Amino acid sequence: MIKIRIPATSANLGAGFDALGLALNFYNYVNIEESDKTEIISLDGTEIPLDETNLVYETAKTLYDICGKELKGLKIEQENNIPMARGLGSSSACIIAGLVGANTLMGNPLTLDDLVNLSAQIEGHPDNTAPALLGGIVTAVFDGKIVHWVKQEVHTSLKFVVIIPDFELKTEKARECLPKEVSHKDAVYNLSRAALFSASLLTGKYENLRTAVHDKLHQPYRMPLIPHARDVFDVAYSLGAYAAYISGAGPAIMSIVDEKNKFFCGKMRFSLDKMGLLSWTVKELEIDNKGTLIL
Ligand code: HSE
Repeated sequence: MIKIRIPATSANLGAGFDALGLALNFYNYVNIEESDKTEIISLDGTEIPLDETNLVYETAKTLYDICGKELKGLKIEQENNIPMARGLGSSSACIIAGLVGANTLMGNPLTLDDLVNLSAQIEGHPDNTAPALLGGIVTAVFDGKIVHWVKQEVHTSLKFVVIIPDFELKTEKARECLPKEVSHKDAVYNLSRAALFSASLLTGKYENLRTAVHDKLHQPYRMPLIPHARDVFDVAYSLGAYAAYISGAGPAIMSIVDEKNKFFCGKMRFSLDKMGLLSWTVKELEIDNKGTLIL
């Protein structure tokens, strides 16, 4: 049986809508092998489809079909730590697990680039799938077929503290609320900040990050879908975060914090409790530079 570890991801990074994403040290695990029949097991009790509508199975089957290889069935065991529909790349993790699993079982007929392209075609955008596969921070342009990408390892002492609401927000819904057209001024506002984000993260100019995560393409439209988001942003900045942004399509809110800011998590927890958000989670993470691994 092949054992695969897939990282959570945080996409957009503020202004880099559908273009920037990074991997985090928070993992799903998938065990997969060919079998006479399909059997899907949730190892940790997370509710997942146990039939052929399961996303890991569906994606693996797609790859068998593409390669023209007959598939009787797959035995799949999943440990799903990444919460679903929260903006941390849970569906991308399933897509990558299915593709990497099937590719490995078939003797690696597809290249890494093939997998980057196919995963983006399945997901519709590359900013979660590419970092989930590659690790680090990934800058990606998807032209509808091919992903033109650069992965950069990030060696930083920064913590990524994610505040995870107790409700789901489906990406589809979070994309429906976006405008069909934006002004030239807003486009410039975003592209300059997206470029500033990766340059600042990679060179240690962390004081730029607060400006870099501001955007006019998605966060203002998504804020109303996330009750208390504005308050959480205010708390994050008052506690000294370099930056706070909606992770992916939300509803999770990511704060980027210096490692010297030791009590950030505890103070954030205290503030959430005071706001009555007792069931929201605070999790301290770091960038994963390795991406998906076969263990
Ligand atoms: N770039 C995507 C979005 C990420 O913001 O809709 C979510 O999958």
